[in-house]
Amino acid sequence: MVGFGVVGRALAEKIVSEREELVSKFGLKPRIVAVADSSGALVDERGVDIERALEAKKRYRYLARAMPNNVVKTPLEELLENFDYDVLVETTPTNIVDGEPGLTYIKIALSMGKSVVTTNKGPLALALPALTEMADRNGAILRFSGTVGGGTPILDFGRMCQSGDEVVKVEGILNGTTNYVLTRMYSDGLDFDEALIEAQKAGYAEKDPSMDVEGFDTACKLVIIANYVMGLTVTLKDVEIRGIKGVTYGQLKELAKSGKTVKLLGTIDKEHGLLTVQSREVDLTDPLCVWGTLNAVTFHMEKLGSETIVGKGAGGAETAVAIVRDLIIVKRFLMDSLGGLPLKSL
Ligand code: HSE
Repeated sequence: MVGFGVVGRALAEKIVSEREELVSKFGLKPRIVAVADSSGALVDERGVDIERALEAKKRYRYLARAMPNNVVKTPLEELLENFDYDVLVETTPTNIVDGEPGLTYIKIALSMGKSVVTTNKGPLALALPALTEMADRNGAILRFSGTVGGGTPILDFGRMCQSGDEVVKVEGILNGTTNYVLTRMYSDGLDFDEALIEAQKAGYAEKDPSMDVEGFDTACKLVIIANYVMGLTVTLKDVEIRGIKGVTYGQLKELAKSGKTVKLLGTIDKEHGLLTVQSREVDLTDPLCVWGTLNAVTFHMEKLGSETIVGKGAGGAETAVAIVRDLIIVKRFLMDSLGGLPLKSL
């Protein structure tokens, strides 16, 4: 595990508290052989004492500060190249400038034929077509269910919509933080900054919340949907982006009188090759008009019409569910490629 923040810790907690269920329901027995935060890594091929690591992280914030004698300072690039593991779970913060450090970690693992589960949108938004090709070439898989919709399986729902039909347009609320902020403004009259601080405290916002507010987070998710669901080869530079700064309580109150509100919407129009993020007026009765940290995505299909999926779009525990979902798929993939032989550590 590289990354031990809100999402990484939630995954570790889930592995500890649901150990028996993971085995009995999904045949999944993850052994965490290394866990790293930005201060260093705990490494043990028999399995890191993850409960101790969680406790240490909670009390001292950095693993190296809490456990200086146990933490190794070997550069992660080196560890990923030389250490034995089946899957890299990568949950470092999203960086949309160059995707780093996550992009390098993902590339190293894939180039060595290791499968990767990531919740990091930066590397995917910048290089998803190249990373998918790299995984294919090296006999590995790259899974990223938690990058869109937190725990809600929006990506696989979209794939099902595409199967036997064609998704021609996608519209959605893809950012939990801004939806939470707009909701608190609309329902409780909070001002923008106050509501944003709440969203940060609850762990919904990105490390740099301007990612949420200025629409970049939604844009990353659009890129991921466009590639994974619609087979488009696009990256972040193909998205036209505008955020929600400037929306006021007064405006929301006025719009409510005519049965409308404002939401930050991401749209993909396949025919015209257009990907856009902008705040738009939405009818209060529209299925996309969801509240709080909920995400909602409508897939418009050529034959079937429109289908909307709604669910919680942010939060550590929710995203940890998506990682486990991906790990189950990785396990099946690895077992298939081994001719059904059980794996040593999953
Ligand atoms: N900051 C993101 C959001 C987290 O608010 O939706 C989940 O991707």
